[in-house]
Amino acid sequence: MKNTQMKNNAVAALTDKFVAKTYARTPIALVKGRGTKVWDANGKEYLDFLAGIAVNSLGHCNPAIVKAIKQQAQQLLHVSNLYHVQTQSELARELCRHSFADRAFFCNSGAEANEAAIKLARRYGLEKRGGRYEIISTHNSFHGRTLATLAATGQEKIRAGYDPLPAGFRQVAYNDLGAMEAAIDEKKTVAILVEPIQAEGGVIVANEIYMLGIRELCDQRGLLLIFDEVQTGMGRTGKLFGYEHFGVKPDIMTLAKALGGGLPLGAMLAREEVANSFGPGSHASTFGGNPVSCAAGLAVMNALVKGGLLKNCVQMGKYFVKGLEALKKRFPCIRQIRGKGLIIGVELDIEGSKIADACMQEGLLLNCTAAKVLRFVPPLTITKKEIDRGLAILEKVLASQ
Ligand SMILES: Cc1ncc(COP(=O)(O)O)c(C=O)c1O
Repeated sequence: MKNTQMKNNAVAALTDKFVAKTYARTPIALVKGRGTKVWDANGKEYLDFLAGIAVNSLGHCNPAIVKAIKQQAQQLLHVSNLYHVQTQSELARELCRHSFADRAFFCNSGAEANEAAIKLARRYGLEKRGGRYEIISTHNSFHGRTLATLAATGQEKIRAGYDPLPAGFRQVAYNDLGAMEAAIDEKKTVAILVEPIQAEGGVIVANEIYMLGIRELCDQRGLLLIFDEVQTGMGRTGKLFGYEHFGVKPDIMTLAKALGGGLPLGAMLAREEVANSFGPGSHASTFGGNPVSCAAGLAVMNALVKGGLLKNCVQMGKYFVKGLEALKKRFPCIRQIRGKGLIIGVELDIEGSKIADACMQEGLLLNCTAAKVLRFVPPLTITKKEIDRGLAILEKVLASQ
């Protein structure tokens, strides 16, 4: 097989012929990235304000991540979890040191992290809560595409066609404490599963009273509180973990996306008493906590806790929102701007995918979620200059509608 670079059309033709049709893909193939910039197979440059959907938080091909991957790849690519894996143990220590948690289970994706959380909650329910198993999540949530995480996901369009889904899940309105309280069944409910910001659901931020309230409910009723921080974790909101904004701690938290710096890596973190419901043989993953992914994860953690990344995220987030607010004054199709740090949603009163496509043509990558919400999740390393350039493209596109 030749290793020459194909053009966009040729790659797209191959995808169309041989790849499962699960994605509505933009008709470009990205082949190179540096920082906030990416290039397609035809050599066109883009500003990437999507960053692999909140994955490349240190920017594309960050030198510290590349170095860590190279070093580990030369040493050892993979070993079974039947053995100790140094980078995995070190990453677990760092995650626990900087969070509420005492232990971490590693996997490869957000859905798998949530599967692990669901399974741990069920084990805990069996051992410590008289066999309770039900998990309450929220309408409009997104927790993954496996059958159990679909059952937890509160979006009909994503669940459609996969019945029967596993039993033991129910959903209530987000940010509605009364609805959550009313849904708790003393005999069945074992846990509440919530995203601090509903990301795929259109960047909807939990309010503080709600977060404090569900923590209190869990404490009063003996339930576990699970935060799905797959998208909001690892500095995306300006704090290392989204829950830190609300003054509450979960019992279990799930991470993925930015955790591996671009390599597949997920984690389920829990405090000791809860984590102890998993013993040898109760859960596993062949690739979970792979030496190379965890080496990359350590580089990400290092940059987040030692560098000025969180500060940049907060400052650039504010700067970006200010620019978007200025556009809102000029373009009535913008209804609302919301988010925290560098997860920002711009709700429109028109179809968002048209705007995202037009931005792509102009050299700016973003995506549309929940039909009318433009989602911006750029690298946390982004600069004012790059934000200005992105805003100018968005302005041009909105003006041409
Ligand atoms: C909050 C949340 N949970 C879970 C997932 C699923 O993650 P993955 O696609 O890695 O399985 C996502 C993905 O977008 C997410 O945003």
